[in-house]
Amino acid sequence: MSDNKVNITDPVSGKSLDLPVHTGSCGDPVLDISKLHKELGYFTYDPGFSVTASCSSEITFIDGDQGILRYRGYPIEQLANHSSFIEVAYLLLYGDLPAPAEFRKFEHDITRHTMVHDKLNTFLKGFRYDSHPMAIMSGVVASLAGFYHDDFDIKDAEERDLTAKRLIAKMPTIAAAAYRHHVGWPTAYPRNSLNYTERFLDMMFSVPAEPYKINPVAARALDLLFILHADHEQNASTSTVRLVASTGANPYACISAGIAALWGPAHGGANEAVLDMLNEIGSVEHVGKFIAKAKDKNDPFRLMGFGHRVYKNFDPRAQLIRSACHDVLDDLGIKDPLLDLAMELEKIALEDDYFIERKLYPNVDFYSGIIYKALNIPTSMFTAMFAIARTSGWVAQWLEQSAQGGRIGRPRQLYTGVAERDYLPIDKR
Ligand code: SDX
Repeated sequence: MSDNKVNITDPVSGKSLDLPVHTGSCGDPVLDISKLHKELGYFTYDPGFSVTASCSSEITFIDGDQGILRYRGYPIEQLANHSSFIEVAYLLLYGDLPAPAEFRKFEHDITRHTMVHDKLNTFLKGFRYDSHPMAIMSGVVASLAGFYHDDFDIKDAEERDLTAKRLIAKMPTIAAAAYRHHVGWPTAYPRNSLNYTERFLDMMFSVPAEPYKINPVAARALDLLFILHADHEQNASTSTVRLVASTGANPYACISAGIAALWGPAHGGANEAVLDMLNEIGSVEHVGKFIAKAKDKNDPFRLMGFGHRVYKNFDPRAQLIRSACHDVLDDLGIKDPLLDLAMELEKIALEDDYFIERKLYPNVDFYSGIIYKALNIPTSMFTAMFAIARTSGWVAQWLEQSAQGGRIGRPRQLYTGVAERDYLPIDKR
């Protein structure tokens, strides 16, 4: 943190104030406004928190203009090409890549927390068969607080670490159980002989009647998608997790809140919306009509999977997923016209002034659904896949905030309602 400052003067009172400037290891500096209201009587106003730093963090760095994403300093491209999701989860939680013995212990711990209490399966089966998987996941994860609350001591670092591992371990089990509840299959228990993504595929698609053969191409593609979705700085769902955690709430309730926030189509729900949009567009001939709809201020339609609050250049994850689409579909011998349609849509949009002026590029959600579809994962499960991966980022951020301590999050407002008036008895109104 530097000791620079920016001086501001209030033209009304003539009072001035030095705002300390804090500089991080990368990225733009921040103005510390904590004394602004006390000294000059002003709040700041930033609906949507476009230019507000809610915390300091050492986990993920994004440069939206350069299209840079790094987890603990490692470029996402290198992690995508050389790492695994479990190794990335370790990196996010503990700050460094694991040594072999550390990796083995972490993977062992995760593997041995994949089961859920059988009463949870009873609770899950209470949902209607056609309940959206994200409704089931947010409900079931919140209910984990019922199993881990009385003896949970949030001040105990070891208990926090165990909770982080439990959540990373159990999320695939819950997601797969939600899918099988929907299709009417019996719950599949985790097979500890498999690795994280193989185990998830097995819990999703194995049937008691015959052995299930894991396709290594599918397992690797899923592992790549989990790496790319693991963390992303202070996005809406992560900020939700941090805000709920700031009240001292049970960590399972915090992650459940993150799942709820991720579900929105403006956030993680976009991957499901992209596939629905591509199916609605149907063919390249109709692309122009939908581009026009996206540009029409009177039309609420947006090009799903396009645009980003931070990236004003390519989302590096979208580029990695686009190229993986080709490899996965080729390896699986699948020809999906939706991929050709998505690429044509991207090409046309990126030549259009509306998208160029607003720096709207494909984001992480634009191509991911093409791969999920190739792995026979239903569209309704796409955001649940995002939640499985992002749990590693959410718990890493929760651990960081728990270790940092700090005050309850409580933003202020600009009040624009009626100033003051007296109550009128109903017979006088
Ligand atoms: C994720 O924050 C994260 O890091 C999120 C995420 C993560 O990993 O956690 O990266 C994951 O959520 C990716 C985003 C997925 N959402 C979508 O694909 C939904 C479609 N995109 C948009 O709704 C939008 O782009 C957002 C929500 C992603 C960003 O919204 P902003 O930053 O508030 O941008 P904005 O709404 O202010 O848009 C700026 C302009 C507006 O036009 P003008 O008012 O200037 O004329 O761009 C337009 C918008 O109308 N615009 C779009 C558009 N996105 C923005 N127009 C058409 N189609 C779009 N997709």
